[in-house]
Amino acid sequence: MNNFKINIKNLKQTEELAKKTASTIDKYSGGLLFLYGDIGAGKTTFVKILAKYLDIKEKVTSPSFVILNEYHSGKMDLYHFDLYRLEKEGISSIIDEIQEYTEDENSLTVVEWANYFQDKLPDERIEITVDYAEKETRVFSFNAFGIKSKQICKEIKESLKKVK
Ligand SMILES: Nc1ncnc2c1ncn2[C@@H]1O[C@H](COP(=O)(O)OP(=O)(O)OP(=O)(O)O)[C@@H](O)[C@H]1O
Ligand SMILES: [Mg+2]
Repeated sequence: MNNFKINIKNLKQTEELAKKTASTIDKYSGGLLFLYGDIGAGKTTFVKILAKYLDIKEKVTSPSFVILNEYHSGKMDLYHFDLYRLEKEGISSIIDEIQEYTEDENSLTVVEWANYFQDKLPDERIEITVDYAEKETRVFSFNAFGIKSKQICKEIKESLKKVK
């Protein structure tokens, strides 16, 4: 199986996971990540670390009030969506836009709060769910859809085994 769950004990381990995710995505010239999890689970934190390891120089902030932030200074373009404040009605038009961004070569699209998307999800995507436990403890679950995404997920999983 390509999908996996990892128990995270502290922020440093989240950093390790995000670093490995960034390098694998870089190897595959980009991808699409949907991030799920409660408020304060660590979705934006994960994106910030991804950006760091993609050599993005700008400060990454939560795009809650603007829906999308984009960054063009790194190894690849980063499109960071946060749909928390988007009403259900706005979702169907934005999914087409997200799909378009993912077709850009060498770009990573990350979407927080994509919970309203039920149908019409892009074929190639990795869904990452962050479950809050306590303090710095988290569980990250990776579920891949599509051939390329499954391969990326498999490689991240394998790279995690190496350090243990
Ligand atoms: N292991 C960990 N992984 C990620 N974040 C952690 C961890 N331990 C502690 N934190 C802290 O938890 C908080 C997570 O906040 P963050 O903004 O990333 O959440 P979010 O899931 O994006 O929330 P929102 O739904 O409001 O966008 C940060 O303050 C971060 O430092
Ligand atoms: Mg966030």
